[in-house]
Amino acid sequence: MTRDTDANLHQLCLKLQQLAEQSSRLQATAAQRADWKQRAEHLVTGYLDDLETRPGNVRPRQRRQVVSGFSEHAQEPTEVFGQLQDCLAADGLRHGSGRLFGFIPGSGNYAGALGDYLAAATNRYTGARFAAPQAAALEQQLLRWLAHELGYPDSARGDLTSGGSIANLTALLCAREQRQLQPDQLPKQVIYLTRQAHHCIAKALHVLGLSHCVLRHIDMDSGWRMSAAILRQQIQQDRRLGLQPWLLIANAGSTDIGAVDPLSDLAEIAHREQLWLHVDGAYGASFALCQTGRAILAGIKHSDSLIVDPHKGLFTPFGSGVVLVRRGAELAAALSASSDYMSDASLLAEGVELDAHQLSLELSRHFRGLRLWLPLQLHGLAAFRAALEEKLLLARYAWEKLQQMPGFATVGKPDLSIVGLFADIGTDQHDDFNRRLLDAVQDEGEVFLTSTRLHGRLVIRLAVMAQNSHREHVDLALERLAWHRQRLLR
Ligand SMILES: Cc1ncc(COP(=O)(O)O)c(C=O)c1O
Repeated sequence: MTRDTDANLHQLCLKLQQLAEQSSRLQATAAQRADWKQRAEHLVTGYLDDLETRPGNVRPRQRRQVVSGFSEHAQEPTEVFGQLQDCLAADGLRHGSGRLFGFIPGSGNYAGALGDYLAAATNRYTGARFAAPQAAALEQQLLRWLAHELGYPDSARGDLTSGGSIANLTALLCAREQRQLQPDQLPKQVIYLTRQAHHCIAKALHVLGLSHCVLRHIDMDSGWRMSAAILRQQIQQDRRLGLQPWLLIANAGSTDIGAVDPLSDLAEIAHREQLWLHVDGAYGASFALCQTGRAILAGIKHSDSLIVDPHKGLFTPFGSGVVLVRRGAELAAALSASSDYMSDASLLAEGVELDAHQLSLELSRHFRGLRLWLPLQLHGLAAFRAALEEKLLLARYAWEKLQQMPGFATVGKPDLSIVGLFADIGTDQHDDFNRRLLDAVQDEGEVFLTSTRLHGRLVIRLAVMAQNSHREHVDLALERLAWHRQRLLR
């Protein structure tokens, strides 16, 4: 029996030694680290230096996949990085180009990318403070700073999420939990929003089981902002019907056209009617960092929850959202959960401050804070404030120029940095012509713009949000639009 056990153990040890030799290849040597890093840096440098001249090509030319499948054996770095270079340089949008004005342009930022590299290479875990006390404190400091910029009190707490969709989901979960809604109460709860709400709100309501509530799409003014007067009337009418007004979802910069709802008025109504006011500022809330934007967003500080996407207005790489809840205890209550296997984390936690995982839908999460913290430190806040002020003024500049451009019309002065425009050809071919105009601009690939529909008509959007967009890029976009309009009319 003992001899059998000894033999088994001996076999196991031999096998383990063999496996250790093989698996230790996963540990990069110092020479490999230096070689791969140099190759990666070379690739990045080539890509970034080329951004200005190549904003993207959205009609794919290369259809054959450039990356190969996996093999049991390690591939030559020259081959792997070569494939990657082709893959990253291939057709599609090049975020970071100042010539991108479509959707809500994301930019990315080199310092932010280095933040990601440092976070991933060290793999510090910031979800629980004991695991990386100083790194966790860095993220808390970042969230506190942002909350302060947006006018939230010290009681606010938040989470660094993967983006606006998850940030909205988290905030709406918090609103639901605060109300302690039971399923049978849902059909009487009323949610107020406008048709300008981003589609991720509908997704979040669906995920949270809130689609059974009464949804009231409140009419908007001529600038696509919720009408406070109509909201007031609707709330009174709903009360008369025996319904329970509950949740008010406002835009601080709608995706279509950048509309900012009258936040101060809405906050006043929410306070009086005891509604939870949630503000979706995924695109627009970052503008609170600059002087002009702060005035436009003045009421945001009175909301119960808000979200902002650093991967839009703070130029971080994709995958960065923030949710803030005014009374942080409500966020903790909404997300509280415990388990035996986490008891050591609780025992190791010091003080009363909550850990990030207790304020998040996620447990094992990326050290996201560094991708924003590092650029803020290396560039300084003033550069961010200036960039945001510049984007607002560029939109105003484009709007003013469009007033002087024959054959074009705008849908109204932009609240923030999205200009809605169209070629005014004065016929019932409006949509068809503007679609062809936009297709021509996209085909050419000098600048990239996208469209939406407002009042049922196609509108071309010039969304100024890329970190590298300056006056010459806006001029180029307007010039290409005018040129293609002329050509199509010939
Ligand atoms: C106003 C608004 N809310 C929410 C979102 C969703 O954010 P994300 O794409 O980061 O999930 C967007 C995205 O553009 C947005 O513009």
